[in-house]
Amino acid sequence: MEKFSGKKFIKDINKPENGFVPDQIINKRSLGKGGYGQVFEVELKKDSHSKNFALKKFNTDHTERGNEIARLFTERDFQTYKKVKEAGIKVFTTLRISENHQELLMTLGTTEDFTLISKDSHITWEKVNKITNLEILLSQIQNNILKAMKAGITLPNDGYFFVIENSHSTDVDFLVGDYGGVSFDTIKKNNADIYFIQNISGARTALNRFLESYMIKEKVEEYKELVDNNLKKFGEEHVSGFEFNKYA
Ligand SMILES: Nc1ncnc2c1ncn2[C@@H]1O[C@H](COP(=O)(O)OP(=O)(O)O)[C@@H](O)[C@H]1O
Ligand SMILES: [Mg+2]
Repeated sequence: MEKFSGKKFIKDINKPENGFVPDQIINKRSLGKGGYGQVFEVELKKDSHSKNFALKKFNTDHTERGNEIARLFTERDFQTYKKVKEAGIKVFTTLRISENHQELLMTLGTTEDFTLISKDSHITWEKVNKITNLEILLSQIQNNILKAMKAGITLPNDGYFFVIENSHSTDVDFLVGDYGGVSFDTIKKNNADIYFIQNISGARTALNRFLESYMIKEKVEEYKELVDNNLKKFGEEHVSGFEFNKYA
């Protein structure tokens, strides 16, 4: 199994002396794999304490400069996480970078009590026939989009992870947990409409994909329509001349 070279995990790249050094890192299983990295469940041991985290290791084998590229992506995602968190967007509580800048240590999304759902997951789950908190979920996503828009942030569809509490599996929560595709204001703050439209489109794709993987086949179209009606109304409220089909 994959071994981890990072021995110290730091909160601030500029203050590497303030790090947490576990005595032992035990690799328990692979949680998922995307185009940039693979995420493992790890158990960190320090003295007599032990806690499980998710550890993302960026690919180093794409090119000859693999290690350097992995470091650049890791640093970029670490800085992006901070900006996204500052904007008030829902993210993992904890994110630390390894001292060698090739790994990210984060809150574990899949535990005994919770399951993190994503298209690149190595975890399996049981499909459901209803989502009981759809209204709340969508209003939280809208709220998140408004915060992103104000900060000039675009959240891509693959940034969204959905989380289910195993004992109430029809209640769905979400967070932004993959920071690779997040982009920042390159046009102008007063063009907030543009970020808004891109953000709606990202959320819509993420929700559609989630419904396809989490709901039984017979229910997917019905819920996709509920999502579309909700986002269409939201768009029309915030962008004059918003035409849903054109953008989302
Ligand atoms: N903190 C986490 N807890 C549990 N599973 C995770 C966590 N982060 C990522 N995963 C799983 O690992 C997969 C790959 O991670 P991701 O960040 O999407 O990698 P990439 O940047 O390569 O797309 C995710 O799609 C998800 O299924
Ligand atoms: Mg991903």
